[in-house]
Amino acid sequence: MKKIRITDIADKYRRGERLTMITAYDATFARLVDDAGIDMILVGDSLGMVIQGHETTLPVTIDELIYHTRCAVRGAARAMVVADLPFMSYQASRTQAMLAAGRAMKEGDAGAVKLEGGVEMAETVRLLAAAGIPVMAHIGLRPQRFHQMGGYKMQGKNSVEASELISEAKAFEEAGAFSILIEGVAIETAREITEAVKIPTVGIGSGPYCSGQVLVIYDLMGFNPDFKPSFLKTYADGYKLVTDAVKDYIADVRDGSFPSERHGVHRS
Ligand code: KIV
Repeated sequence: MKKIRITDIADKYRRGERLTMITAYDATFARLVDDAGIDMILVGDSLGMVIQGHETTLPVTIDELIYHTRCAVRGAARAMVVADLPFMSYQASRTQAMLAAGRAMKEGDAGAVKLEGGVEMAETVRLLAAAGIPVMAHIGLRPQRFHQMGGYKMQGKNSVEASELISEAKAFEEAGAFSILIEGVAIETAREITEAVKIPTVGIGSGPYCSGQVLVIYDLMGFNPDFKPSFLKTYADGYKLVTDAVKDYIADVRDGSFPSERHGVHRS
C-alpha cells in the first residue's frame, strides 16, 4: 500500500480536497484510523493527558514521544505519521530542535514533525526543512504555553491578534513548513490565515474554513464524558461502549458463564 507523504498532502490541497488528521499513540488505534482512510496520524503530545493522565502536555519527554511514534508507525500502513515535538525538546536552541526532530524521524520513523511556535521559531523550521525534515507549524492556542497563557484560551479574537497570527503563518510558509496547524482560533481569523497562505492549514477548535481538521481520537470517540468543549463533535459513546462491555465481562466471570468449556481445550 502506498504511504502518504507530504507531496501527496500538497497534491490533495491543490485539488481542493479537505485533509483529515487524527491522533493515535499506539499500533492498534493507528491501524483502526488507517483502515478508516485517514490522511495523517498525529502522535500528539496530548498523549501526556489522554495516555499518561497528566493535567497538561508539558511533562511528555522526547523519548516517550519517539516510543509512541514507533508504536503508531507500526499500525499505519498508509497514513503519514506526524511526531509532535514535546515541550523543551526544541525551544532551547536550533541544535536541540534539529537533534529532537532528527530522532523523531530516524528512531520514530515519522513522516514529519510538528512544533508549536510564533515567528521566533521560523528560523528553526527553515533549518529543519533544509535538512529534509517536513515540519507542520502549530499556531494559535499553543498548549505548551499553558502557564504563560493562564490556561487554554481562544486566540485571534481581535484584529491585532489576527494580524499577528497571519504574520506567523506567512513566516512559517516562507521558512518551508508544509502545513500550519491552527488551534483554538476565532473562525474569521482562521479563515484569513488559510486564505493568506498557499500551504494547507489544519484546524482544531478554529471553525470550518481551514484546509483540513484534526481531533484527538479519545475525544472523537467520547471516551471522556467530562470533556465536552464546544468545538468537539463526538462520533461514538466510547465511554458507554467500553464500560458496558467490561460490565458484561465482569458479570459473566462472576456468574461462571465465561469462560465455559468452549473457551478451553480438553486433554487429548
Ligand atoms: O498534541 C496534540 O494532540 C495536538 C492536537 C490537539 C492538535 O497538538
